[in-house]
Amino acid sequence: MQPSTISPISTTAGLAVHGRDLDALFAAVRAATGELPRATAASAFDNTYQVGMSSLLFVGHFRDAHGGAVVRGILLDGWTPALVGERADLVPPRSFYHDHQGLLYRCALSYLKNIPLALHGHTGVGKTELVRYFAALLGAPVYRMNLHGLSTTDDIVGKLLPVGDGRVGFQDGLVTTAVRKGGLLLLEEMNATGQEVWFALHGLLDGSRALVLVEKDNEVVHQHPWCRIYSTFNPAEYPALYPGTKELSAAYLRRWASVRVGFAAREVERTILVTRFPEMDRGENREILEIMLDVAQVARKLLTDRARAFDFVMSTGLLVAWAELTLLLGPIEAARIAFYDILDQKTKSVFRDQIFSYVTNWSTDQLDGER
Ligand SMILES: Nc1ncnc2c1ncn2[C@@H]1O[C@H](COP(=O)(O)OP(=O)(O)O)[C@@H](O)[C@H]1O
Ligand SMILES: [Mg+2]
Repeated sequence: MQPSTISPISTTAGLAVHGRDLDALFAAVRAATGELPRATAASAFDNTYQVGMSSLLFVGHFRDAHGGAVVRGILLDGWTPALVGERADLVPPRSFYHDHQGLLYRCALSYLKNIPLALHGHTGVGKTELVRYFAALLGAPVYRMNLHGLSTTDDIVGKLLPVGDGRVGFQDGLVTTAVRKGGLLLLEEMNATGQEVWFALHGLLDGSRALVLVEKDNEVVHQHPWCRIYSTFNPAEYPALYPGTKELSAAYLRRWASVRVGFAAREVERTILVTRFPEMDRGENREILEIMLDVAQVARKLLTDRARAFDFVMSTGLLVAWAELTLLLGPIEAARIAFYDILDQKTKSVFRDQIFSYVTNWSTDQLDGER
């Protein structure tokens, strides 16, 4: 098996390899680097392996054009302390992230090839967590910017500010800082903001890979060799769920590679929940946990079928919150606090009559009763 080396656009050392199975992939890595990848305590969950002292192998399982299994890997160098410099506080701590749908591999691919990556999916499916975990693995700083309807180019690119003595100086915005210094730039809720902001980013996302600071004598800030760009989007086809989201222009979209982040499978969610809350895997909590996972499955089916105009996202994030409160309050009272009490009457009745009464044997009148 010949490893295929992709020549990196930047100075990033990286390698793309593939094999019929994990063993063949590892052999290809060894042939290319002299090192055999080693599993870490997290490999079973994050599909990432250690190579040598400071490189990581991100593994994804795919099918070839004929439907045969192919295991692909991307080898990336971790960040050195010298590269991080004074910015250790911007490197996210290593948390628990359960890879699924080849998401970490795709983040690595976008990093290797320096292609901006747009992650779109419902709220709470783990988009932010994915990029933060990827950064934690690499030891890279993250520049995270929450965009919204009132975000301006001043916020992202920078603006002139008084510096004393009646003079003004240009202060870099967060995007400019990331582009200058390197790191993972994470633009959150990209479609909640407007055209003006997208246009300001065009040059950065284009072949020129540079920002122009018009207010600073048109200074051109070229993308640092270690700057990578990620963004998150909520699906615009659900305006009732994400008011204020805009359809992105074709001109903007073509500048991004994109990945749909779907709901994690039931097994994956069970692992996420019992890893976070080991008590959920004990005694009577076990049965409660299964019911909670059922509730999530049915709620998502109602959402995606769009049959009953059920505008509610039962996300992984919400399950985490529900499970945490369940350990203190029991599942019904916890459901009220975690999500139920805030729903409108119509959504409540769907929850009560078509989800809870269907998958649980709980006395659901407690959902609406006075406390
Ligand atoms: N794959 C996953 N592994 C571990 N935790 C996850 C995963 N997906 C979601 N979560 C949990 O859900 C919460 C919400 O995720 P987040 O990244 O904030 O969602 P999004 O950015 O898509 O709205 C996270 O804090 C984390 O606890
Ligand atoms: Mg997020």
